[in-house]
Amino acid sequence: MTISKAKLRKTISNPPVELQPVTRLIPANTQEQVMEQLYEFIGMEHLYESAIREVKTKLEILDGEFKSKYDYNPIHHIEDRLKSPQSILEKLQRKGYPFTCDAARAALNDIAGVRVICNYIDDIYTVADLLTMQDDVELIVRKDYIEKPKPNGYRSLHLVIKTPVYLSDRKEMVNVEVQIRTIAMDFWASLEHELKYKTDTEVSAELAQQLKQCAETIADTDKQMQQIYKTLKEIN
Ligand code: GTP
Ligand code: MG
Repeated sequence: MTISKAKLRKTISNPPVELQPVTRLIPANTQEQVMEQLYEFIGMEHLYESAIREVKTKLEILDGEFKSKYDYNPIHHIEDRLKSPQSILEKLQRKGYPFTCDAARAALNDIAGVRVICNYIDDIYTVADLLTMQDDVELIVRKDYIEKPKPNGYRSLHLVIKTPVYLSDRKEMVNVEVQIRTIAMDFWASLEHELKYKTDTEVSAELAQQLKQCAETIADTDKQMQQIYKTLKEIN
């Protein structure tokens, strides 16, 4: 999905007709510099993409082990996303950092994002503990919005971990943001996310209140489901 350096070099030195108006905008004496920044950016994207794959593999291995040992999957499914170049630039600007890969790597914890959707609340903590216990994983941040929900009702367990990525000439420790939540919490968060784009403030306030109520109901239901599941397991 990312363009190779060789291809980029060729494109810039010999741009196709449709790109020529763009390359003419870059002064000749800075073309080299712009190219270097692009190379660096491509390298960074590759690094974070790889880190996502490493973390997903770790999670899939844990889930598979549970399936083979206990005939049970703690993970319902996993989603991932690499922050788009546009969002990276917007966030750097918002936080007042320069537009460089070094600044992005240092200041942004969520360039690589992995979301783990579990069936039950206990699964969330099992997955988080087993992942952060691994000796090549370093825990950087842990925010428990299940124990302490956000004022709007948002619940999830957030981790920022560092995981190693082995390249041809070195090992890089790369930050990955991991959000772990139940199916019900995820259902809630996706609807709440849509509210952020609502412009009518009166409607928003009313909907926000209703959503908060839903969050409480969902939290109660999650607890009850967990309890029923536990009881069932004890009977079997
Ligand atoms: P940023 O929000 O990324 O600037 O970092 P932060 O330090 O505030 O981190 P936090 O752990 O609070 O949030 C990280 C991510 O969690 C966000 O980018 C969202 O994807 C998600 N998130 C946090 N709060 C909410 C919320 O209230 N609603 C929803 N739908 N998602 C949320
Ligand atoms: Mg935030």
